[in-house]
Amino acid sequence: MADGVAAGVPAAIPTSMQAAILTRHGGIDAIRIRDDWPVPRPGPGQVLVRITATAKNNTDRKVREGLYDTSDDAKIASFRMAGDTLSFPRIQGADVVGRVAAVGAGVDPARVGERGLLDFNIYPDDRADLNLAPDYFGHGADGGFAEYGVFPSDQFHAVPNADLSDAELASLGMCAWQTALHMLTSAEITAGDHVIVTGASGGVGSALIQLCRILGAVPHAVSTPGNDEVLRALGAQTVIHRAPGTNLETAILAATGHPPDAAMDLVGGEMTLPLIRSMCGDMGARRSYPRLSIAGASNGNLTQVPWTLIYLNQVRIFGVSHGTRAEAERLIGWIRAERLRPVLAGTVPLSRLREAEEAFADPSRGFAGKMVIVPDSQWDEHGRRYALPL
Ligand SMILES: NC(=O)c1ccc[n+]([C@@H]2O[C@H](COP(=O)([O-])OP(=O)(O)OC[C@H]3O[C@@H](n4cnc5c(N)ncnc54)[C@H](OP(=O)(O)O)[C@@H]3O)[C@@H](O)[C@H]2O)c1
Repeated sequence: MADGVAAGVPAAIPTSMQAAILTRHGGIDAIRIRDDWPVPRPGPGQVLVRITATAKNNTDRKVREGLYDTSDDAKIASFRMAGDTLSFPRIQGADVVGRVAAVGAGVDPARVGERGLLDFNIYPDDRADLNLAPDYFGHGADGGFAEYGVFPSDQFHAVPNADLSDAELASLGMCAWQTALHMLTSAEITAGDHVIVTGASGGVGSALIQLCRILGAVPHAVSTPGNDEVLRALGAQTVIHRAPGTNLETAILAATGHPPDAAMDLVGGEMTLPLIRSMCGDMGARRSYPRLSIAGASNGNLTQVPWTLIYLNQVRIFGVSHGTRAEAERLIGWIRAERLRPVLAGTVPLSRLREAEEAFADPSRGFAGKMVIVPDSQWDEHGRRYALPL
């Protein structure tokens, strides 16, 4: 204990645990479920968390499959904005909920037992309003698909609200919510703005709808048919169906009645051009410059857009990845104030993570909101009542 590392580790904490280990880039067989993985110990400034629920995100699959390529020579099959990042073996899972089980040096031992939600970012520095090199727990360091994890104490935020179960709290995780908020703040969305949201039934999309309402904006959802009821209940003013053969530009204008002020795009591919066109069709009818935030490309990484459309109509385009410490803290405040509504699709035990990965990636998956993974040892208490049939 010379370095104080194990100062707050109670004797009851085991030495090995259940964990899903990503061994390499690849298919679901790259994930190994182990029952003998070492339990980490909290370092200075860290908490050891006994994990009860971790929400899944699209990024888990993309990272596993090696779909991010940010290097010029295409040699790095994961995103790297600066310094070291993904290495194997790695425990994925960004949106972690659990109880503080032990603390490292410099952390108040009174925090043991506290229920909290992780701000998933590995921030490059202390700046509250700028995050220039996003990385996260579950990618650049181990995340939540395990029984225990170690995280910075100042990013494990207490959320004591008894009305929110652990699985519901995980569904409010920062990976989707902070991204959604940063999309809206980047595009300077204000009260009265009409905002198109693509990928609306997903984690980020459903968060965008709720956040638009909190900011006083009017969200219009673009989604596959069948999600109308849940999207309207979240606050969508209209639901525009995306389906083969639909002219999205016309459908948007028919739904909104006027050019939307802004578009939040998570889908990319052939969806982006009609989104931009819907904002630019009648510039004389606008109150502000057209604004497009893009944070995902579920439907394709390449989009052909004429630059004349962009510069003649003065379209503002914002690329968004994660968000800032200040935005995470703002969201935690809204969670504590119970202003954010969890959209929990259901839970899956950690031992079935590979099946969960397949179900999550199925384009006809037929559920809205977040899938949450629960360690088998926590299943009876935190998972069973929300079990998602796979
Ligand atoms: N930049 C960042 O920091 C950041 C952070 C989080 C997520 N993301 C990205 O944002 C996107 C949405 O993330 P998410 O967590 O909300 O994902 P998700 O829960 O899987 O939702 C994705 C939604 O996109 C829609 N979609 C449209 N075309 C699709 C296609 N061809 N394949 C799959 N889905 C399609 C579907 O909604 P509808 O049926 O309603 O159309 C689907 O529910 C992903 O690309 C993800 O990687 C980026």
